[in-house]
Amino acid sequence: MADLIQIARSLFAPGKGILAADESVHSATARLASHGIPTSEEMRRQYRDLFLGAPGIEQYLSGVILFSETLLEKGNDHKLFPTSLSARGILPGIKVDLGTEPMSASLEELITQGLIDLPERLVKYKKQGAAFTKWRAVVRIDGDHLPTATAVHENAKRLASYVKEVQMAGLVPIVEPEVLLEGKHSRSRSRAVIETTLGTVFSVLEEHAVDRASVILKTSMALSGSESGKKDTPAEVAEDTIAALMQSVPRQVAGIVFLSGGQTTEQATDNLAAISQKAKEVHAPWPLTFSYARALQEEALTLWKGKEENVPAARAVYLARLAKVSAALG
Ligand code: 13P
Repeated sequence: MADLIQIARSLFAPGKGILAADESVHSATARLASHGIPTSEEMRRQYRDLFLGAPGIEQYLSGVILFSETLLEKGNDHKLFPTSLSARGILPGIKVDLGTEPMSASLEELITQGLIDLPERLVKYKKQGAAFTKWRAVVRIDGDHLPTATAVHENAKRLASYVKEVQMAGLVPIVEPEVLLEGKHSRSRSRAVIETTLGTVFSVLEEHAVDRASVILKTSMALSGSESGKKDTPAEVAEDTIAALMQSVPRQVAGIVFLSGGQTTEQATDNLAAISQKAKEVHAPWPLTFSYARALQEEALTLWKGKEENVPAARAVYLARLAKVSAALG
């Protein structure tokens, strides 16, 4: 376990964070299509290369979460992506859940799939160079009616089984119970749901006697719902996010990373800065950093348009964004 703790801690190297480049084929297709970029396996490879092959990312990234397809692909430098990332001191990680499906007990809510053949897949991913893993559960807010306790608990149980398998395979687990931004809810409802969700996840992990010291939490920030008509200030987000985390996350975890979850690039950067500042003020016990997908990619995708001649300009805005997000850590 000592090795795992060290790997987990190295993801929190000062000024560095994680790029989530683990969109499934379905999500990557939708992401590219939303920028008018035609999609194919080769375009997805070029999309990955835009972000993973950019010179200088090692100054800001301690790790990258990959999708299984990318583990086996080569960048434009003709090296396998995990090999070239490792050579630059960036740890390759892998998304190991297989996505979500409606829960039979509550059809408006989702349960995450992927436990059945997980041990075999973990052995394979480790051989292919992965050092850490991610499992995403989804928690939807709808008034006081969702999430149901059953959905939160069932997802927490699967997260605990995932953590056990991953630690046994010698890999670091990131547990991601994402509380969605979509909805009309208030920021205080978001805070309460984050608190309950994380409280449930960590109590179920404890029941499963999981070693928490190598577990990384990936969480949403406490935000007013995207259809609430309310725009939170970074100070408000920081106040409620840190309060929820202090209430529900054991001090023993290796650290906490944030997802951007549909916030604009600027919001995700400014909110991270306020949260980092607040965490210092209250002497929060865990290191914090980012694990963003959309907030690190959007500006670059807008410029890239799937065209080789736009790669330098797209990479320049991506590097500039990485610098700003890194600076937000304080
Ligand atoms: P976003 O930062 O785009 O939310 O993606 C992070 C992630 O890994 C969601 O699972």
